[in-house]
Parts: sequence; structure tokens; C-alpha cells
Amino acid sequence: MPIQENKDTFVKEMFSGIAHRYDLLNRLLSLRRDVYWRRFAVRELLKTGGGFFLDVATGTGDCAIEILMQGEKRKKVVGVDFTSEMIYAGRKKIEREGLSDCITLLETNAMSLPFEDNYFDGVVSAFGVRNFSDIKRGIREMRRVIRKNGKVVILEFTNPSNKTFKKIYHLYFKRILPFIGGIISGKRYAYQYLPDSVIEFPDQKGLKKIMEDEGLGDVKYFNLTFGIVAVHAGVK
Ligand SMILES: C[S@@+](CC[C@H](N)C(=O)[O-])C[C@H]1O[C@@H](n2cnc3c(N)ncnc32)[C@H](O)[C@@H]1O
Repeated sequence: MPIQENKDTFVKEMFSGIAHRYDLLNRLLSLRRDVYWRRFAVRELLKTGGGFFLDVATGTGDCAIEILMQGEKRKKVVGVDFTSEMIYAGRKKIEREGLSDCITLLETNAMSLPFEDNYFDGVVSAFGVRNFSDIKRGIREMRRVIRKNGKVVILEFTNPSNKTFKKIYHLYFKRILPFIGGIISGKRYAYQYLPDSVIEFPDQKGLKKIMEDEGLGDVKYFNLTFGIVAVHAGVK
């Protein structure tokens, strides 16, 4: 099997196994900072204007919902994800929130988005890009499906630069988080994969360069919570 399919299969299986506990563990393990991080990313996205957005690797739909919370309910959002269990959990949540008329979730692979060029006003991806089998291709696809002057916004974990903070944080991130995540989800490897994949992921400057290489301009990034995460935004 090619490496790309291997990673997609691994990632899909992993998220299908933790989908039922995904939201709970996000809030718990980040002490609810994840809510603030998505809010920040969506605020950056909405600066682009317009009313039709895409949430790539939407998971349980948190960014899609946040777009409607910040914008008026007239906005429309499509969320895509290739793990059916995550989409299922997302659809139930969207129904509970009464947002089914505004948000559509589709099961599809971000490596090949089923949309025409220049279709959306902007696109966001929170904690998705790191899991892609081909980061460049994923970003190229995101850029392709948005209109000129639309924004690609990426929220991802990074490695904090302050050495003292990094030591304490890594103790939590590499040891305590996989332990708690393992107990609650029953899938410790998924919460071990999280720090491992963050360490392998490009740093802020590296991701900015990839976005620029894929044709995005005016790429900026914002470090949040001591650089645990960063929001990158680039313009088509
Ligand atoms: C860490 S979750 C993030 C979910 C959500 N965006 C959030 O903020 O909580 C990563 C999601 O990316 C999805 N994913 C990873 N690679 C993908 C791909 N190539 N195509 C579609 N979805 C993908 C996984 O299925 C998973 O639901």
C-alpha cells in the first residue's frame, strides 16, 4: 500500500475509535482553550467577508458551528471529513444546536475536494492539516476551492519556543495527556500519536513557507497560549 493510503487508513481508524469521546477529551485536556483557539481562527477567517465557508477536517463540526455563532445565521458552511464516526457525531451536535439548515457535513477526503475552483469565500482547518498524508496537496486543494482574496486559515499545534515552558508543557503533552486520553477513550495510542505528530509537523515558519509555496499571499501567523498552537492565515 502506498505511504499516503497507509496514513489515511491509520488516521481514519484512529478517529473512528475516539469519536464518541472526542469533544469531551478536547475540552478536558486543553482546559477548554480549544474553544478559544477555534474562536480566534474563525474570527480571522470571517475578516475575509462573504457568507459561504468550508471547514476542512471538520471532525465533529466545531469550527463550522463557530462560524455561525460569530456570523449571522444566514451564513452557510460545508464541513468535510473522511471519518464517518466523526461526521455522525458532528451531525447529531448540529441537529441539537438547530443548525442543520446552515451546515452540511460531507464524508470526503481533503486530498481531493469535490468542489469547483473558486467556490467558497474562505476555508478553515483546525487540527486537521497535521494529519494529512500530503500537507502540500491539502493546502493546494483548500486554496483551489476559494475565490480570489478569500482566506485559508489553519489552526494547528506547534512547539512552544520558551525553553522552560516547553519542558513543563512536554511533560504534560507527552506523558500525562496520553495517560488521561487513554483512560477515557480506551485508545491510548491516539493520544500518544498527538504529541508525536506535533513534533514531526513543520514549525510556524515552515508552515508559512509551505502556504506561500502553494500560492497564498500575505501569510501571517499568530501564536496562542505560549505558542502551544498557532493560527496561520493566507490570502488567495
Ligand atoms: C483532530 S481532528 C480535528 C477536528 C476538528 N476540526 C476540530 O477542530 O476539533 C482531525 C480530523 O481530521 C480528519 N482528517 C484527517 N485527514 C483527513 C483527510 N485527508 N480528509 C478528510 N478528513 C481528514 C480526521 O478524520 C479527524 O476528524
